[in-house]
Amino acid sequence: DIYSRPSLNWDDIATLRDKTSLPIVLKGILHPDDARRAVDLGVEGIIVSNHGGRQVDGSISSTDALVDVADAVAGQVTILADSGFYTGSDVFKALALGADAVCIGRPHMYGLALNGAAGARDAVANIIAELDLTLGLSGHTDVAGLDRSALKDLG
Ligand SMILES: Cc1cc2nc3c(=O)[nH]c(=O)nc-3n(C[C@H](O)[C@H](O)[C@H](O)COP(=O)(O)O)c2cc1C
Repeated sequence: DIYSRPSLNWDDIATLRDKTSLPIVLKGILHPDDARRAVDLGVEGIIVSNHGGRQVDGSISSTDALVDVADAVAGQVTILADSGFYTGSDVFKALALGADAVCIGRPHMYGLALNGAAGARDAVANIIAELDLTLGLSGHTDVAGLDRSALKDLG
């Protein structure tokens, strides 16, 4: 009774869809059936996320979930992913597995705690720089070229 709203369900997404032409991005998708259902309801994007591992102890990781979710709905909806993507090679792997982009949660907060706005900017800039370096050192020039075959380039 004190946490979340258990009455929320898929009908609420349909209602929301009826009420707005704004893009809807549904967060917390971890199963390919849910991803298909979200696409059927007309959302523009999904976020493959276990909310930073803060909800269900032992939940499937976003990286593992991404494989089946991308197989189910890639090309039909924008696929974002979060929860534990902290380095350039983490982002490389997520993109190679089928994410269109990765969201970063706690790292920019850690940067903020260490050095204010500049620290938050640095935390994100470092991940981007690592991604750049990982791409270059593994023989890639563009994130658009990353697919699952690129995973073997990480060694
Ligand atoms: C302190 C804190 C509070 C959060 N609150 C929410 C929330 O209310 N709703 C939600 O969907 N996700 C929430 N999240 C999860 C984030 O939106 C995001 O999915 C997560 O931080 C991504 O993982 P990462 O921090 O490992 O990058 C929270 C995360 C943190 C650290």
